[in-house]
Amino acid sequence: MKTRIVQIDENNIDGEAVRQAGEIIRSGGLVAFPTETVYGLGGDALNPASSRKIYAAKGRPSDNPLIVHIARWEALAAIVKKVPAEAVKLAETFWPGPLTMILEKSDLVPGETTGGLDTVAVRMPSHKTALAFIEAAGGYVAAPSANRSGRPSPTVAKYVRQDLDGRIEMILDGGDVELGLESTIVDLTEQVPTILRPGYITGQMLKSALGRVEEDVTILRSDSGQAPKAPGMKYRHYAPKGELTIISGSEQQVVDYINAQLDQWRDENKKTGVIATDATIGAYRADVCKNAGSRLDESAMARRLYRILREFDDEDVEIIYSESFEGAGVGQAVMNRLLKAAGHRVTELK
Ligand code: TXA
Ligand code: MG
Repeated sequence: MKTRIVQIDENNIDGEAVRQAGEIIRSGGLVAFPTETVYGLGGDALNPASSRKIYAAKGRPSDNPLIVHIARWEALAAIVKKVPAEAVKLAETFWPGPLTMILEKSDLVPGETTGGLDTVAVRMPSHKTALAFIEAAGGYVAAPSANRSGRPSPTVAKYVRQDLDGRIEMILDGGDVELGLESTIVDLTEQVPTILRPGYITGQMLKSALGRVEEDVTILRSDSGQAPKAPGMKYRHYAPKGELTIISGSEQQVVDYINAQLDQWRDENKKTGVIATDATIGAYRADVCKNAGSRLDESAMARRLYRILREFDDEDVEIIYSESFEGAGVGQAVMNRLLKAAGHRVTELK
């Protein structure tokens, strides 16, 4: 299959390109498109054959459900059993935007789209191209992130192409995404609304809107002995090809420790990389150093993380060390993804 790549400007949307993209979805094909979080791989959410194609194109296990993207509030009622008051509240506050809600699904949504679950994940993105495309596609677009399963989510079209060229009909290239990490997922089918995946909309923000909210214990821990409730969170994910280890401790300890490790790897002729910050970027003796930015700017780190992981692959880096990024806001989401990328390999310096 030849994949068509079409440039599209969010502020001056090419209506004909969007119409053609929508037509591909309506006839059962696949189109990758930009959202404010990461690029999505879209298919018709109400067509079981389309969902099967998405799993095949991504190489994704079919028990890992897809998010259904809508462009209008009125579209929600048809795909869920009921719209709880909490969903109304969250939609008023955070939609369109980087928030996904888990609700009980209606019969309209095929089990292929929800990985066999009787719940459905729904999100209304804020990206203008995404909204126009969803409308043109018929209103319900199932879209996981547009990467091959296990790879970091794409934040630019180049990486969509690297993973999916020849496997899908079209890529809408809208340039760099704005946020760089996937949406926050909140499960509204539990007694107390529960965060299954952290993101831009933080626990604190959800608490302000809802009064109470819990967190899936698996978000930052690997030793909870529990399976994450979002099936996708159980897979090793976002992983670069090189072996990634997170080093936590005081700044000086971390720099000294990583440099000692780097010296050993150099003796073994391994290509090394480090994820550093503004404060430490000059301090490492690695072959490739990437700057995640200032520790004070958690959203800049969020925007850069996946690109950095992909660049290590482009440059064939074999051994990677990262500083640790605990943070109260988006930093929690950054650390959650980094831990998964590292397969929870963390060295804590005492
Ligand atoms: O920002 C985003 O959410 C992006 C863009 C494209 O919108 N999409 C995205 O989709 O990250 P994906 O498929 O890469 O991640 C969806 C996550 C998976 O971990 C999946 O297991 C979980 O959502 N999920 C989907 N439906 C679910 C359900 N019914 N119950 C629990 N978890 C669900
Ligand atoms: Mg994904």
